[in-house]
Amino acid sequence: MRARAVVDLTTLRDNVRALREAAPTAELMAVVKSDGYGHGAVPCARAARAAGAGWLGTATPEEALALRAAGDQGRLMCWLWTPGGPWRQAIEADIDVSAGGAWALREAVVAARACGRTARVQLKADTGLGRNGCPPADWPDLIAEARAAEAEGAIRVTGLWSHFACADEPGHPSIAAQLTVFREMLDQAERAGLRPEVRHLANSPATLTVPESHFDLVRTGIALYGISPSPQLGVPADFGLRPAMTLKASLAAVKRVPGGHGVSYGHRYVTPGETTLALVPLGYGDGIPRHASGTGPVLVAGKWRTIAGTVAMDQFVVDLGGDSAEPGDEAVLFGPGDHGEPTAEDWARAVGSIAYEIVTRISARVPRVYVGNLGGTGI
Ligand SMILES: Cc1ncc(COP(=O)(O)O)c(C=O)c1O
Repeated sequence: MRARAVVDLTTLRDNVRALREAAPTAELMAVVKSDGYGHGAVPCARAARAAGAGWLGTATPEEALALRAAGDQGRLMCWLWTPGGPWRQAIEADIDVSAGGAWALREAVVAARACGRTARVQLKADTGLGRNGCPPADWPDLIAEARAAEAEGAIRVTGLWSHFACADEPGHPSIAAQLTVFREMLDQAERAGLRPEVRHLANSPATLTVPESHFDLVRTGIALYGISPSPQLGVPADFGLRPAMTLKASLAAVKRVPGGHGVSYGHRYVTPGETTLALVPLGYGDGIPRHASGTGPVLVAGKWRTIAGTVAMDQFVVDLGGDSAEPGDEAVLFGPGDHGEPTAEDWARAVGSIAYEIVTRISARVPRVYVGNLGGTGI
């Protein structure tokens, strides 16, 4: 195989268990949006369910519907809606939909009436992230309208929820501020007669470090995949987590070249002396950031190397110096880090990004290979 992203589902299950221990009073939602942060939504959802995740979460309704099509029957929520979205299909598939404004609530109500079902609607509050969600000033009107739709039988408000802005920055004042606003918005909703099944606010960093944010449910994404939400918080092992994905390739060529030889587009690397070059058949078409030109780390022939020159669409080069290798030998771009390979966090540091992006951007051209306990065929 040219390249593969090996995903260890036993590791993912262990990560789910570690997260459940970190939030013992709450249920766990496994966030599998964006194809499970690049790890594969369906196999990861299956592994997470097997390890006790009561909920799955996606951004788009299409992602949630794909999980239903794959056989998932448990609680499942999606939150990124646009006008005219597939409300009816989601309601008929028993997916919890999210409304952060009157337009979304109204579209859910219309779709519920049209299919003769009671939609499960979760109301999203903007407690300070400034992104999606209902601002405090509009909240009384939204909850009153939701209450009226409940009375009619069109919807049931199953959840009240919000999202943190800076939970990955320990002690950031917005964390306490958002908690205060969330509690006030919950109180208002409860005074208006709403009785949600779940109130939820915590993402991975809050699950790991802000226990007072756990409420009834925690929504964990990055930590499921064994990656620390931020190097500031610690390394995965500090939280009992381990990265589930290892990205590898087989060397496509190895050759001796003289000193002064230009390497890859633009000749941004020139060999300092006679040396051995190895060709790694992965490029930005596979999701390797072009920004990694001259900076990305890779384990080849037992040592960390730095990408020599420009990352092309399909390949990049490493300079092995005096070491030797053969075509077909393994190059490991990132993994758990315990066999000397870089981690996704090392890549994030090298390219000025976050580990979330490094794993999520690995493209569909790279086959995912699942190892460990794969679980059954249905979810
Ligand atoms: C609304 C929402 N909840 C939870 C998550 C999971 O966040 P994390 O990957 O930090 O756990 C995300 C991801 O960005 C999100 O958008």
